[in-house]
Amino acid sequence: QLLPVILCGGSGTRLWPLSRETYPKQFHALAGDSSMLQDTATRLHGISGDVALAAPLLVCNIEHRFLVATQLQQAQIENARILLEPTGRNTAPALTIAALQAVSAGADPVMLAMPADHVISDRKAFHESVQVAFNAARAGQMVTFGIVADRPETGYGYIQHGTTEQGGTFEVQSFVEKPDLVRAQSYLAAGNYLWNSGLFVVRASVWLKAMKAFRPDILSACEQSMNGAQRDMDFVRPESNAFQSSPSDSIDYAVMERLPKMPELGIQARVVPLKAGWSDVGAWDALWAVREHDADGNAIIGNAVQHGCTNSLFLSSSRLVTGVGLDNIAVVETPDAILVADMRRTQDVKKIVAHLQTYG
Ligand code: GDD
Ligand code: MG
Repeated sequence: QLLPVILCGGSGTRLWPLSRETYPKQFHALAGDSSMLQDTATRLHGISGDVALAAPLLVCNIEHRFLVATQLQQAQIENARILLEPTGRNTAPALTIAALQAVSAGADPVMLAMPADHVISDRKAFHESVQVAFNAARAGQMVTFGIVADRPETGYGYIQHGTTEQGGTFEVQSFVEKPDLVRAQSYLAAGNYLWNSGLFVVRASVWLKAMKAFRPDILSACEQSMNGAQRDMDFVRPESNAFQSSPSDSIDYAVMERLPKMPELGIQARVVPLKAGWSDVGAWDALWAVREHDADGNAIIGNAVQHGCTNSLFLSSSRLVTGVGLDNIAVVETPDAILVADMRRTQDVKKIVAHLQTYG
């Protein structure tokens, strides 16, 4: 069985001011008509034959439970389970409580961890890669999907891979999460690195074994919280104090960086190259890239008019937005805040958010 585990507890600060704590980016229809969460939840529909698809498991912040439940209902996703985190502890604890929930029913499904804020435009190609990864994960490997890198992006993980193919997968020789610019440039030049897509395929028991080896502290906090979990309807509430006592860490740092260095654990890290129009809509420049453009390269969302602008993004959520003669600028309007940013520096929007959190 393939169990989609949708991670939707992030806050998406680089897409401020549209993405807010109460309504983060994954709940917005940024890339099309339905929200990114809804796109994620339906992304595996139609996957063929030998993969038996289980109803998805979602891990989100407790504050967003009704938002998640409503959006799933709108997308006609049935029988989903929703795990509610009292506060985010990053993706390693999130995937760990999902794995514990999965094995509590006596099963050991292959989990497909999916971030809720990605765009994948070619579903058919995605399904084929998932099939390949599913087979490798069934055999006890930890599988990730690699994207061909075209710039020295520092917000991604980098996968150094071998050249011998085995059932569609390659050996992960090393994994480096979010390198600095100098290292990212050298990986790009080296040619044997792929970006980590942030999607992972692994059996629940294999994930728990890796956590036991690398982060027993997180595992034990998660176990305690799931032992004390309360279940009502579709919601599962891990016991709050135990969950909050877990250290924060991501799947990438907690496990992916360490696996290739510990072959004696017996869990091989493998990568499947993914060519399916993947984009993580991490910042405004990435959203610009996945939207339709006019002849001058402008992407216009909502009520906006421009004259003589090039390669710019205009997003209006209520008022009319206009621009004249701008190049490579992102303008984002919301009822209570407006962002105007150089498109080359949209990663730094999170610094504005940090400033606002500190000084109000
Ligand atoms: N439930 C839950 N709880 N979900 C979370 C939490 C949490 O505490 N923190 C993050 N998430 C969700 C986010 O909503 C997102 O969908 C996903 O987990 C990934 O988290 P990000 O915070 O967006 O990670 P990242 O973008 O910095 O890095 C990851 O993705 C890159 C590709 O987009 C890494 O896997 C990188 O290696 C990778 O290149
Ligand atoms: Mg991300």
